[in-house]
Amino acid sequence: MSLTSRKKSFQEQWKTYREEIEEALDRALPKTSCRQEKVIEAMRYSLLGGGKRIRAILVLEFARLGGISMRQAMPVACALEMIHAYSLIHDDLPCMDDDALRRGKPSCHIQFGEATALLAGDGLLTCAFETAAQAADELPAANVLAVEKRLSACAGYLGMIGGQVIDLESEGQPIDLETLEQMYRLKTGALLEASCVSGCLLAGQEEKIATAENYARFLGLAFQIVDDILDVTGDPSLLGKPVGSDEANHKNTFVTLLGLEKAQEIAKSYTEKALRQLEMLGAAESFLTDLTEALLNRLQ
Ligand code: IPE
Ligand code: IPE
Ligand code: MG
Ligand code: MG
Ligand code: MG
Repeated sequence: MSLTSRKKSFQEQWKTYREEIEEALDRALPKTSCRQEKVIEAMRYSLLGGGKRIRAILVLEFARLGGISMRQAMPVACALEMIHAYSLIHDDLPCMDDDALRRGKPSCHIQFGEATALLAGDGLLTCAFETAAQAADELPAANVLAVEKRLSACAGYLGMIGGQVIDLESEGQPIDLETLEQMYRLKTGALLEASCVSGCLLAGQEEKIATAENYARFLGLAFQIVDDILDVTGDPSLLGKPVGSDEANHKNTFVTLLGLEKAQEIAKSYTEKALRQLEMLGAAESFLTDLTEALLNRLQ
């Protein structure tokens, strides 16, 4: 297949994935008329109708490498998107990054108020574990239990939350590159790690976990550095979120520490490292390599 047609089929496959995931999320969190209608509406508002869905896709792709079907892995893919959506709702709150726009819409707290947004985040986090458990209907319960353990650790206080803590505590403080990398590994890398490793665990492929972790670590660093670059150079109408947020919040980023050009160079070199891990997994020149490259050059 020529490079151009491979890239085209990659874009089509990405779109198909997004549609399948959207449908599954819609089914996993149905509209319900009950006393809790408002919080369910807020959860659905932030979960549905947007996002690149890379965490769900990583679950599905790593599971596929181990022979697990999309249907079998989908509950865990949905769980990852629920945890991610909760992290975004809380990240946008006035007590955190105070951002009013997310995925091209008013942030959850702008639309529904702070208390409902807080609870919608909590609701999505807990719903994620309930949803992931449904994978045990078709796959060995021990594999799904291993996924649940990894999900809680990666989302938790020594994972994504731990990274958010470093991010907030470092606002306006000078930090070194090592601390910055640790922050990125946790706040962004941890959920990507959970995604890739969950795919391996569903398939019972323990031997692939170390390489999957390395891939996720390099991808996470590159991904967050690009996010920082876009916060300076991006177009909010494409990004769907504000630019200039990091500067306004006195955040430490690769861009503030090293400048745009160096940050771009480092993101590229982490992307190359991530690609090498994919080769080790036997996934060279695949959907995953195209995705990894596309995320380096993304505009949204
Ligand atoms: C945004 O994540 C938060 C970061 C970790 C940088 P994404 O860029 O994956 O957000 P969506 O899901 O596509 O909106
Ligand atoms: C977000 O980092 C990391 C999360 C865990 C949500 P950012 O604060 O830079 O993400 P955006 O730019 O708001 O999406
Ligand atoms: Mg933040
Ligand atoms: Mg933010
Ligand atoms: Mg950002």
